[in-house]
Amino acid sequence: MITNAKTAPGPNTPGLMGDLKAYRTDPYTLFTRAWREHGDFVRLRFGPIPVFLPGHPDYLKHILLDNYQNYDRGQLFKKFERYTGPGLLTGYGDTWLKTRRLAQPAFQPGNLDQYAAVMADGAQKLVERWRPAAEAGGIIEASDEMVYYILGTLGRTLFSIDLSEHAADIIPAAHYAVITQVTKTGTLWEMLPEWVPTPHYRRVKAIRAFFNAIVDRIVDLHRRGVHDSDYVSLLLKEEANGNLTAGQVHAETLTALIAGHDTTAAALTWLLYALAMHPEVQNQVRSETDQVLGGRAPTIADLPQLIYTKKTIMETLRLYPPAWLFPREPAADDEIAGYHVPKRSIMMLTPYLVHRHPEFWENPEVFDPHRFGPEQDKARHKYAYLPFGGGAHQCIGMHYAMQQLIFTAALITRAYRVELAPGGPVLPETALTMHPRGGLRIRITARG
Ligand code: HEM
Repeated sequence: MITNAKTAPGPNTPGLMGDLKAYRTDPYTLFTRAWREHGDFVRLRFGPIPVFLPGHPDYLKHILLDNYQNYDRGQLFKKFERYTGPGLLTGYGDTWLKTRRLAQPAFQPGNLDQYAAVMADGAQKLVERWRPAAEAGGIIEASDEMVYYILGTLGRTLFSIDLSEHAADIIPAAHYAVITQVTKTGTLWEMLPEWVPTPHYRRVKAIRAFFNAIVDRIVDLHRRGVHDSDYVSLLLKEEANGNLTAGQVHAETLTALIAGHDTTAAALTWLLYALAMHPEVQNQVRSETDQVLGGRAPTIADLPQLIYTKKTIMETLRLYPPAWLFPREPAADDEIAGYHVPKRSIMMLTPYLVHRHPEFWENPEVFDPHRFGPEQDKARHKYAYLPFGGGAHQCIGMHYAMQQLIFTAALITRAYRVELAPGGPVLPETALTMHPRGGLRIRITARG
């Protein structure tokens, strides 16, 4: 029990709800302001619950690595289980560890080459899909297009089913899930038990039923033995070995579907935004693609050569990390930076802030892919850059996602020039994952 530690500084916002209302409306501004005004370890308050904002990489390392067994996903994250089921994304402890070890092989670098041809084919199909719009100098709704595209390749690689046909239903369902995960925090509607038929819970149940039906279909097809080398077949083999239950197979399939598509589509959308805002970067990605690929499809052997493209993606994930916020809850009292952390408080881990820490990033708001490279990456604090999280719970799909992002960036820039369509400023939406508010509209033109 820690007794001498001080109370962390913070805005001491008056009122019953404290900082809850500001969190529900604009968490980016709330967090950025609190961090700038009060430093690297800030105390906020959601009603009676203390909420901490660790802004220094040392503190993130403490929570995610050194003392990670004291920090579970917590109530805020657990609520997302209503969509994903109790899988890896919300799991913790022994069951999580056992499942993680079983699922990991599907995402290990050595196993990713089996997905490469489908990823490259998907990216080329996207290029073809955009051709009529490009010829007409047309405008693309990039956010929706990226979800459509990712559902196609994610489905074909991991589940052997093209899920893009469900995009029109998945887009609003996932959107509702990630937005209300923040905007309804601590509201009366969220405190009621889920059997109360409020409009919110009716929607939650409809979304859950919808995702469950898709996953049932995917798993059924695999049980009939149609496929034998994708992620679902790996899960089913572990079920046959007695290592997973049928419920876990369902939850992990659903988790990969939800956790995998929303983040990767957001990353690609922000990548298009960054390319549009920085034509010189776009040109450099394009000339690297020309040099490395010429006119052919990318393979896994090209990845080490597409260096600048990778740096551009890493810089995009620095300024626009799709998983910009993920919470934790301490099971027992702790002390960070000499400040007291009571058990069952909320710890808001925010790559969005740490990626802008001036001690670790020069001119943090400037988009500059050259920040990355073997030397810089080695010299940097490991927890100053964590778009895929860190420690034991680091994203299982990290290498898979990077491969997909690199292939897509290469093929889009080879075919098209990307510009922003006229419209207002592009700002992040209040949601659990970071997307441009109201979507992103781009104009594409065919390259000569
Ligand atoms: C650009 C794309 C992606 C980003 C930015 C991203 C980000 C993250 C982050 C930050 C975490 C850590 C969360 C935490 O510590 O609480 C995480 C975990 C996870 N991600 Fe990703 N992710 C991406 C793509 C994917 C893909 C493609 C998949 C699967 C197909 C996936 C599946 C998961 C799972 C299952 C976890 C939980 C890992 C665990 O705790 O064992 N993600 N992701």
